[in-house]
Amino acid sequence: MDGEEAQKQMRRLTAQIKKANRDYYERDAPSISDADYDELWRQLDALEKQFPEFAKRGSPTAAVGGRASSRFAPFAHPSPMRSLANAFTEQEVEEFARRMLKRGAKTFCAELKLDGVALNVVYEHGALASAATRGDGVTGENVTANAKTIANLPQTIKDAPPLLEVRGEVVLTFADFAALNDKQRDSGGKVFANPRNAAAGALRQIKAEITAQRPLVFYAHGAGEGARELQVKTHGELLDWLEANGFAVASPRVVANSAGELFDYYRNTDSARAEMPFSADGVVYKVDDLTMQEDIGYVSRAPRFAVAHKFSAEKAATKITAIELQVGRTGALTPVARLSPVSVGGVVVSNATLHNIDIIRNKDIRAGDFVTVRRAGDVIPEVVAVIVERRPSDAEVWHPPKQCPGCASPVVLKGKWLLCENSECPQRLRASLAHFVSRNAMDIDGVGGVLLEKLFAAKMVRRPSGFYALTKKNLLALALIADVASDNILAAIDKSKDAQLARFLFALGVPSVGQTMAASLADFFGNLQNLIDAPPEAFAFVRDSGAETAAALQDYFADKNNLSEINNLLAAGITLRPQKQTNKQHPLREFLSTAAAFKNTLPQSPLALIDGEAPLKGLGKSGEEKLSSAFSHLRALANADILRITEALDGKAPLAARVHSFFRHPQCALLINFLHNIGHEWAAVVEESSLPLAGKVFVLTGTLAEMTRNEAKSKIEDAGGKVTSSVSAKTDYVVAGESPGGKIAQAEKHGVKIIGESELNALLAN
Ligand code: IVH
Repeated sequence: MDGEEAQKQMRRLTAQIKKANRDYYERDAPSISDADYDELWRQLDALEKQFPEFAKRGSPTAAVGGRASSRFAPFAHPSPMRSLANAFTEQEVEEFARRMLKRGAKTFCAELKLDGVALNVVYEHGALASAATRGDGVTGENVTANAKTIANLPQTIKDAPPLLEVRGEVVLTFADFAALNDKQRDSGGKVFANPRNAAAGALRQIKAEITAQRPLVFYAHGAGEGARELQVKTHGELLDWLEANGFAVASPRVVANSAGELFDYYRNTDSARAEMPFSADGVVYKVDDLTMQEDIGYVSRAPRFAVAHKFSAEKAATKITAIELQVGRTGALTPVARLSPVSVGGVVVSNATLHNIDIIRNKDIRAGDFVTVRRAGDVIPEVVAVIVERRPSDAEVWHPPKQCPGCASPVVLKGKWLLCENSECPQRLRASLAHFVSRNAMDIDGVGGVLLEKLFAAKMVRRPSGFYALTKKNLLALALIADVASDNILAAIDKSKDAQLARFLFALGVPSVGQTMAASLADFFGNLQNLIDAPPEAFAFVRDSGAETAAALQDYFADKNNLSEINNLLAAGITLRPQKQTNKQHPLREFLSTAAAFKNTLPQSPLALIDGEAPLKGLGKSGEEKLSSAFSHLRALANADILRITEALDGKAPLAARVHSFFRHPQCALLINFLHNIGHEWAAVVEESSLPLAGKVFVLTGTLAEMTRNEAKSKIEDAGGKVTSSVSAKTDYVVAGESPGGKIAQAEKHGVKIIGESELNALLAN
């Protein structure tokens, strides 16, 4: 980045942070998530370090945040109130611990980081004299009258030095927060986003009587001026002193000697978080020895001797306003909790999946309940547990509706799953369309969301082939998008016509055919017609496929509507790129073991039982080995007479007769012919060294575009190669996808060839 660009960025970041500060500190109404705030702050901080010549005096990185508002008299803190540096990763904590140990620190005090409002309480000769919010760290707001109403805040302390500043957090419990919000809602007052904002609102009331009605709690976590006069040597002892003098101190707190012990504390507290009555947003590690703390000192806004290790903010508590059924493209009716919107890990969540009726029953989830919700990455948010203490008396036990919300046809109960069996259900059709255009399916950019709703409602698109009949006039008639946008959408639709078989199969939305299965099917069958023509037994030979996929595909292709829709799609100009089959050579014994399992995997197949018996029963591993060393390939075995089979099986005549009758069965002949015709071979022993990647060692890194890393691994292994996790001089290739990690540097260090996905495919195809 050049200087000019950096200056521009810094101005932009400064403005964003200042606005966020105002929203947070002065209006008690945060406008961005903590995580986003931290990110802005880090970016600005990094740029200021890189371009110190452009760093501004009044930069928000130098202040603690906000400034005292004019509602309260300013209060000059006897000693500055600092903030804390944040660590987000274990590596950052390790670095902190290493720095501290190097400077002579031996032990750390680890404690909770409560998510509340910082308060500085000043005691003069043991009596509570004043209390102030942090403000900019130097000057805060004088909220003495309000603070005095906090029930657990000592008004006097014994044996105190003439001046003592006690620092801590003012918080509200989750339960009191919810009760307050209910009251506010009823009276038309302000509803708070989280307990911290509610606590800030309560503490900053003009009338102390109002504050007194809000059950605020103060937790002490340190001392400012006067701390040196207390007879304490460590931070842990200071907390003990505060506790002995009537202050609440959060627990658990521990003394730790190493980064490992800090992590143990972090993990234990993190997992106990859901049960805590208060919101904690992390833990704090402080050098325990107070003299050592002073030696290590401060940087502008924060002590160097302490660090906050933030929890990943992925859980939150909120209320279930209703439980409804969501109709999926396959007819699955998933119960969904509608939530009072809550920020989970920086994303506002207003729905969470309840999966199935067993989960609702086991967790006893009711409409009206307060629950904890969790969000992990891109995964759909889910309800972790009910906060039973907060269950309102009118929370309703949920009973599944009798009718599908999409088409009013009767809801069918299958085990714990609810189903709509009407394939013409409008909500099912709409869900299928959304799936068809989605990123991992046909990836038609710009056609999701509101536009899809409108197209569906206007009956312009009812089935996927409808997208390909859309005209510009159609799109403009919806009065939703502009001219240029409609051109882009038509171009995106057009582009999707050149499709990979695997994506197309996934996009069709056949039940039980996910992305991985679609890729395996495409690889095994090579083209769509083979798949449509396949006898059911063929599916047993596809990786990870079985009876369920076979049945689902059979049902799917047996339905005339589905076939005519596929024809419509092909007629609309979709061309399916033929898929190169990467794995066509198989060991003969694999055919035998797969066929021996037909009894379980394909009980409906005529090959499952012949004359009431599983034909390959009793063959076992040794029999499979014997047959595959006696016959060079599947055809030889399939055409062999009973004598040769008996010979191969060491004279076991009854077993040989069954094997023989299996291969004589017309369905078996049909299956083997089909498999051969689509290019698969089962040979006695596949010579390892004849495989294209025999002896080659691969390391995979980054995200591949057309397959997952696991798929790539299987393909490499099937081709005789080996996949290892770390790069060494023995590695032959590093396959790099998008955002590869440090493995690239290692590959360069060892002189290992780095290839992309297309080069890998070329190697596999050799
Ligand atoms: S120590 C000199 N300890 O978090 C050290 N702060 O993000 C200054 N906080 O301003 C702070 N729990 O308001 C400390 N156990 C704890 C804390 C804690 C919550 C707050 C405090 C601080 C902010 C920094």
